[in-house]
Amino acid sequence: MPAPTSDPCPADPFDIPSLDAALTGSRFAGKLHFFPSIHSTNTQAMQQAESRAPDGSVFFADEQTQGRGRGTHAWTSPPGSGLYVSILLRPLIPPADILWLSLAAGLAVHNAIRTVTSLQPDLRWPNDLLLGPRKFCGILTELNAEVNRVRHAVIGIGINVHQQQFPEDLRPLATSLFLETGRNWPRQDLLLALLQSLDAELAALTAPADLQAAAQSIRNRLERSSTWIRGKRVRIDESDGFTGITEGLDPRGFLLVRTPQGLRTVFSGGVRESGPP
Ligand code: BTN
Repeated sequence: MPAPTSDPCPADPFDIPSLDAALTGSRFAGKLHFFPSIHSTNTQAMQQAESRAPDGSVFFADEQTQGRGRGTHAWTSPPGSGLYVSILLRPLIPPADILWLSLAAGLAVHNAIRTVTSLQPDLRWPNDLLLGPRKFCGILTELNAEVNRVRHAVIGIGINVHQQQFPEDLRPLATSLFLETGRNWPRQDLLLALLQSLDAELAALTAPADLQAAAQSIRNRLERSSTWIRGKRVRIDESDGFTGITEGLDPRGFLLVRTPQGLRTVFSGGVRESGPP
């Protein structure tokens, strides 16, 4: 790993007309919305969904001033440093199956990172991406749904790209593509690869007749791409935090953990590696 420097981030502008041209034929063409600075691309996408923005609208920014993470966490989003993107979808997927959408987004990022950088990230359920023990990408999927119908979903993706250092408390936990490779990967290339990969995932997942086949494919690929799905000793930060060994995914995509008291399903808690009992 290169020694971090305190140089400013390189200029890494987006060329939106050429990005749009490269997306011709995908659900995202003609629907790119770029902001030099915005509160949160997820908030923007959720608001625009209420104003009838179409399926496939993409909101991305050079900087977020109130980037949001899962739970109560913030997502620090300094200018020029990361990829901050939210995708608005109106998927024909029952709410009970919507976790597959979020898991598919993790696989799309995984594929994009491998394509552009040749790195091999790990996927920590549900959809953190790690390089070694450190996280460089998080995904926040938000829903507006009735009990049997998803009105819209927003998949928000944050990737640490050019960061040369992190605050001391985050250093054991966070990394960037620059810190891992010593190179400044263009955000445009990452975004294009990500949207192309996501388009393919969505095509499979949102064809109603194929939902179960798509879910099975996601499950198989996750098992291959992640060291967290099976055989990992983990601690789950749910209200009654518990530890155990991961034992695959249940039929809806939730993580199963074997504990001394039996098999438990993880619905919402953070998953962390745990030392020996
Ligand atoms: C996490 O906690 O791991 C999820 C982080 C998600 C961050 C992204 S950045 C783009 C989008 N806009 C937000 O406010 N959050 C998501």
